[in-house]
Amino acid sequence: MHLLIPAAGMGRRMGSDRNKLLLTLLGKPLIAWTLLAVESSSIDWIGIVCQPEDLPDLKAIVAELSLSKPIQFIQGGATRQESVYNGLQALPPDADRVLIHDGARCLATPDLLDRCASALLQHQGLIAGVPVKDTIKIVDEAKLIEDTPDRRNLWAAQTPQGFDVQLLKECHEKGRQLGWEVTDDAALFEKCGLPVLIVEGEETNLKVTTPVDLAIAEFILRQRLGK
Ligand code: CTP
Ligand code: MG
Repeated sequence: MHLLIPAAGMGRRMGSDRNKLLLTLLGKPLIAWTLLAVESSSIDWIGIVCQPEDLPDLKAIVAELSLSKPIQFIQGGATRQESVYNGLQALPPDADRVLIHDGARCLATPDLLDRCASALLQHQGLIAGVPVKDTIKIVDEAKLIEDTPDRRNLWAAQTPQGFDVQLLKECHEKGRQLGWEVTDDAALFEKCGLPVLIVEGEETNLKVTTPVDLAIAEFILRQRLGK
């Protein structure tokens, strides 16, 4: 199974002066934890989508890990959507399905990657997700609540997300033509009327976004490693 890792962000909400994926988490760069999970999974090709200025650091991190799987570096775009688009163009011709996993979700387990990879053999589109724990409100511009959707129907989207490569490419092309701006690939698939399955994700598979997430991620890793 081929895997694209969007890693070309700036980490603005982290408030750091560099890509948050290069920040240290329990002695290793954040992206190294993501790559270690991938290394222990059934994935057999990795495309890291990144900005040119991060390339030297990322190459050094990959070298240090001495991973057994082929890795390709792909130039990132201005948005996650563009980064994934670039990643799709760089897939080898024999890739008919692809998993996409955010570099910032460094706590995803190899088991989750494997469950998504195997479900993807039977489905054209899927994402990892977990039931939301909070009650979610739809709110208008004046901060007045418009609606409270039934929580039983609400899931929080995670990655990995997996798709038929040809179909996802077509969805991206359509999205570019029509100016759709989305925060994940499932949304493009949905807008094209294609089915996307939810695979049970992991509560600990958080996207490290703000400094609090970094502290929580460190706590979870310590527990896992028995430190
Ligand atoms: N990403 C990407 N290309 C972009 C923007 C984001 O590949 N132009 C990647 C990030 O590196 C991250 C994932 O998409 O692994 C999810 O994005 P997010 O958590 O929003 O990361 P950032 O965009 O870096 O953070 P922020 O939005 O706070 O700036
Ligand atoms: Mg972002």
